[in-house]
Amino acid sequence: MSPSGILAYHEASKHSPESVRRSSRGLDWANKPFPYKDYPRGLPSIDLPMPGVPLPVSALDAVAGLGPSSARELDAGELGRLLNYGAGVMRKRPISETQAMYFRTYASAGGLYPVEVYAVTGDLPGVGPGLYHYHPRRRALVALRAGDHRGSLVEATASEPAVPEAPLTLVLTGIPWRTAWKYGARGFRHLYWDAGMILANLLALAAASGLPARVVMGFDDAAVERLLGIDGRHEFPLCLLTIGGGSTAPAAAEVPDLALATRPLSAEEIEYPQIVAAQDSGRLQAGEVAGWRGSGAAAARPALLGAAPGPHDLLENVIRRRGSARSFDRKPMPVDALTSMLAPATSGVPADYAPAGSRLVEPYLIANRVDGLGAGAYRFDGEKLQLLASGDFAQEAAYLCLEQALAHDAAATHFLMVDLEKVLGRFGDRGYRLAQLEAGIVAGRMYLGAEAHRLGATGLTFYDDDVTRFFADGDRPKSCMLVLAAGPATRHLLPLA
Ligand SMILES: Cc1cc2nc3c(=O)[nH]c(=O)nc-3n(C[C@H](O)[C@H](O)[C@H](O)COP(=O)(O)O)c2cc1C
Repeated sequence: MSPSGILAYHEASKHSPESVRRSSRGLDWANKPFPYKDYPRGLPSIDLPMPGVPLPVSALDAVAGLGPSSARELDAGELGRLLNYGAGVMRKRPISETQAMYFRTYASAGGLYPVEVYAVTGDLPGVGPGLYHYHPRRRALVALRAGDHRGSLVEATASEPAVPEAPLTLVLTGIPWRTAWKYGARGFRHLYWDAGMILANLLALAAASGLPARVVMGFDDAAVERLLGIDGRHEFPLCLLTIGGGSTAPAAAEVPDLALATRPLSAEEIEYPQIVAAQDSGRLQAGEVAGWRGSGAAAARPALLGAAPGPHDLLENVIRRRGSARSFDRKPMPVDALTSMLAPATSGVPADYAPAGSRLVEPYLIANRVDGLGAGAYRFDGEKLQLLASGDFAQEAAYLCLEQALAHDAAATHFLMVDLEKVLGRFGDRGYRLAQLEAGIVAGRMYLGAEAHRLGATGLTFYDDDVTRFFADGDRPKSCMLVLAAGPATRHLLPLA
């Protein structure tokens, strides 16, 4: 597929009032996919208990990339902190005497959790070198391969500089059927949004531990699939995250086939060819990775000077409390809280594809009730909110978000926009993965920022073209990647799992 190919996917997976009416079929609850990847019980595993005492770093600092200057040792305890707070099960909603629905530390549309996390480790104390799958409910690493396999990732990423030095690289994968069961072909977008939500947590947790972390999007897809033993159709790699430095990966080891049967997701699995084609359109072969990355790569995200303004609620306590607002109180939030959420969330992602501090996502917003800011439509330029139109657009906000009252009742509803033509022009079809992923990271960071201010937040879906039209400002039209509404909300925390 050429760039027009992924644009064809984007076009075909747009929501509009007509498309939503057309697809409002009932869900086949008996065939709902199971939300965990379960390997055979006989495989060796390592328990990762929840850490006891939270690190003394505020959520707002950690989201801004601030933390201690010396790194904590990356051992089993630290891995437990990263994975359990990054992607683990946190709360439960009992649904009968014996059954409960489990909620994770990150938001996921419909609570479907289509993303899996794997760890490729060097010789970490208490863990040892290997390829592991993280089980979010058991809070355990399941050993899939023994030995140090980081060299395979060095090869797959054409020696992206952070990879050989990192004692730990996490690989996030997507299982399309888990989300396509409800969202159909649009589920492809959900995979990257959810991976972004997890990365928002992980990047903040790594910063709080003083560990460098870097998102790597340039890799030979087939090589990563081979290493993980996944087929690239029913499960495919979304992104890599290197954590830590100062290590040296060995040369790539032999990677025999991994023939591990896992528990079926549901009685019948429906494949969506549009999703497979969308992922395939962005594939890179071994020889293409270095050229794709080009000179865009740069060092870490620039450290913001000084501590982030706002409350000093510790990161882990904030992640513990996070949950999506199910209604908003129609009360105002202060403009300082708004900008202290937006600025670090949109200050760029430490990534192989982006020069430090650059960003693909531009936040636009409808301010319904913000103290110190007139009601209206705004664009956030990284520092200031620029007024596009003043007036009460709360009704429009609700309409744009599939007629959901949440967007009307929130203090502010943010539309994370991207100039897709520009991104695809620079990165080819793979650019679509970056745009969706970065929107997920920005929204995930805003969830944390809102919770640090004791405000509610929720991701929302949207009518694509109506959002583009609403914010049209004479520039090239921008495409909405994701919506995040925030504001005062009365929430009832579910019991801890
Ligand atoms: C990408 C994305 C889109 C979402 N869209 C909606 C939505 O349109 N309406 C809604 O009420 N909640 C939406 N949510 C919130 C999810 O329903 C919520 O994250 C999920 O139920 C898990 O609950 P939790 O976030 O409280 O842990 C969305 C979440 C994400 C990550």
